[in-house]
Amino acid sequence: MSPFLITVVFLCTTLYCVRAQDTKKDVFYLKNGFEFKPPRDEFPPFQGCYDEGEYSTSNSKNKIPTYKVNLDLPPDQRWTDLVSDKRDEITKLLNNMKNHTDEIFGHSIFQLIDTYMPLLGRTLPRVYYEELAGIARDSGETIGEMIIFNLFYEFFSFCTSIVMEAKDGQIYHGRNLDFGLFLGWDPKNQTWLTTEYLRPLVVNVDFLKNNETIFSSTTFAGYLGVLTAVKKNTFSLTVNERFKMNGGYVGITEWIFGHRSQRWMGLLTRQVMEEADSFKMAQEMLIKPELVAPVYFILAGNETNQGILITRGRSDANTLAIGSNQTHDFQSWYLIQTNYDHWVKPPFYDDRRGPAVTCMNKWGQDNPRKTLFNVLSTRPVLNKLTVYTSIINVVQGTLTTHLQNCKSPCWPW
Ligand SMILES: *[C@@H]1O[C@H](CO)[C@@H](O)[C@H](O)[C@H]1NC(C)=O
Ligand SMILES: *[C@@H]1O[C@H](CO)[C@@H](O)[C@H](O)[C@H]1NC(C)=O
Ligand SMILES: *[C@@H]1O[C@H](CO)[C@@H](O)[C@H](O)[C@H]1NC(C)=O
Ligand SMILES: *[C@@H]1O[C@H](CO)[C@@H](O)[C@H](O)[C@H]1NC(C)=O
Ligand SMILES: *[C@@H]1O[C@H](CO)[C@@H](O)[C@H](O)[C@H]1NC(C)=O
Repeated sequence: MSPFLITVVFLCTTLYCVRAQDTKKDVFYLKNGFEFKPPRDEFPPFQGCYDEGEYSTSNSKNKIPTYKVNLDLPPDQRWTDLVSDKRDEITKLLNNMKNHTDEIFGHSIFQLIDTYMPLLGRTLPRVYYEELAGIARDSGETIGEMIIFNLFYEFFSFCTSIVMEAKDGQIYHGRNLDFGLFLGWDPKNQTWLTTEYLRPLVVNVDFLKNNETIFSSTTFAGYLGVLTAVKKNTFSLTVNERFKMNGGYVGITEWIFGHRSQRWMGLLTRQVMEEADSFKMAQEMLIKPELVAPVYFILAGNETNQGILITRGRSDANTLAIGSNQTHDFQSWYLIQTNYDHWVKPPFYDDRRGPAVTCMNKWGQDNPRKTLFNVLSTRPVLNKLTVYTSIINVVQGTLTTHLQNCKSPCWPW
């Protein structure tokens, strides 16, 4: 087993991008998550809140399909229907990843991954390893590639999540999933390459036990974990990336060296959705375990006042509850989380919190779905990385997802 190799795979985002920027004129690559300059000056700053007018879920032409994953089946058969349908799309995304990795490291890097990643996979809990093996079989990819595919979501989800209380006290939960860093900017189409490949992979999944839906999630075909989900009349959960230098790399290296008590974020959230039967229990399960990498959990409950931002380090946690006065930014009826700690000012080159606060205050509590949709569709809360917008009502257990496509002019992130 080669800890060195794994570390290189993740550190390469930095190496790779610097070099690619020098050698390729037509695609803009990030140097690393937070040390880059905008490719152009022409992207508009915040220009007022989006106003869709009449919000309705039926007017969305960006409908996505729903699949069932039956947890009573043997693990390697659970994802077969979904993965068989999305096989071509998964292959396209992986090929795109491979092509870009090949440019720098040559083809050998993916051969090494094929050799070593399955060993890493076997250190995962057995059920998840078997699910992965089934997904690999059904998609025609190797287990190593599917593990890489799954790990990407742990590290490259740049998002906005909002919990709000409506006038009647009901809790609503909205989120944008922004993804696509790492694999390059296409200046002709003004799109992130990976975001384009991800859009066809977005699906709703109902997880079944005893023939009943125990929770619903919006996810990417081929991904085992949970980034956006609701358990009817119990709680809803979204995950945002928390970027800390070396945060994840240290954790992965420790994991490989056998420090296995740490939890992978996506598998922890999956377990929480399956096992927690209340807002309180979910909160405890998310705060306690040691994690491989830092992350933000945004949790909403089925009763008034149940909304919380959980800022996780690898072993520490900070919480901010709805209605508390710890921050001057938010009014007492909502919470907003982007990719920065709530107690610090967002950096000027990525301030999505400020516009979100302005627009939450503008649209108010009267029509919660419309408020959330409008705020999440406001540039730059909505940006070129945004793949989808989801709106959740916890009590009803509804999770409505729209594919997003931010038309130019629009911020790249
Ligand atoms: C990958 O590269 C090959 C050869 O250069 C090309 O034919 C193929 O279209 C590329 N695939 C993707 C998804 O970019
Ligand atoms: C860019 O846009 C053109 C024309 O709309 C399309 O044919 C092409 O596939 C797009 N490229 C990517 C990488 O999305
Ligand atoms: C689920 O429903 C099907 C028919 O709809 C039935 O054949 C099967 O026995 C049920 N399974 C369980 C675990 O209840
Ligand atoms: C909220 O969920 C808890 C735990 O599942 C449950 O005991 C309680 O009755 C629910 N509250 C309402 C208003 O349904
Ligand atoms: C927050 O501040 C407002 C007004 O300053 C006050 O009415 C409210 O009770 C405070 N809430 C908490 C939880 O301290």
